[in-house]
Amino acid sequence: MAILKIARMGHPVLLRPAEPMAAGDLPQVRKLVADMAETLADAGGVGLAAPQVHESRRVLIYLVPAERGGEPRPLTALINPVIEPVPGPPVLGWEGCLSIPGLRAAVPRHRAIRWSGLDINGEPVSGVAHGFHARVIQHEVDHLDGVLYPMRMSDFRLMGFGEEIQRFGSPLEGEG
Ligand code: NI
Repeated sequence: MAILKIARMGHPVLLRPAEPMAAGDLPQVRKLVADMAETLADAGGVGLAAPQVHESRRVLIYLVPAERGGEPRPLTALINPVIEPVPGPPVLGWEGCLSIPGLRAAVPRHRAIRWSGLDINGEPVSGVAHGFHARVIQHEVDHLDGVLYPMRMSDFRLMGFGEEIQRFGSPLEGEG
């Protein structure tokens, strides 16, 4: 395993739609996922998409820590994921991104999504995700399409350095 270099906003790999993995790519996928897991653990985030480590392939990993609310999820890999929103109004929630270090923002996302894809063994998997689980999958799938969270925002007052937001409080306080 290896800790990989994380691309930061401004690197063109983050704006490029990623290529799907093929059935024969499984050994390559396993190595990539193992390296991404080590990189994520080192960086201390909750999700990472392959383009963030300069691999323009449709692979992502994420986890849902217990303190984020909802059902906690262990580290999970999704290959060639497809998501579909469950109809409903968008919800704002705080996000950060290892490719945009130091900053945080309240980003509108679908409250719930249906997701499908392949697991690390190449087996089809699918489900419905709500809350933070739905948010982290939407954030990581966006990376596979060359989309970073600021491109989803409409109110940039809700973006700032994490340290300052912690110090002065969230401008969203009291809102859902
Ligand atoms: Ni990100």
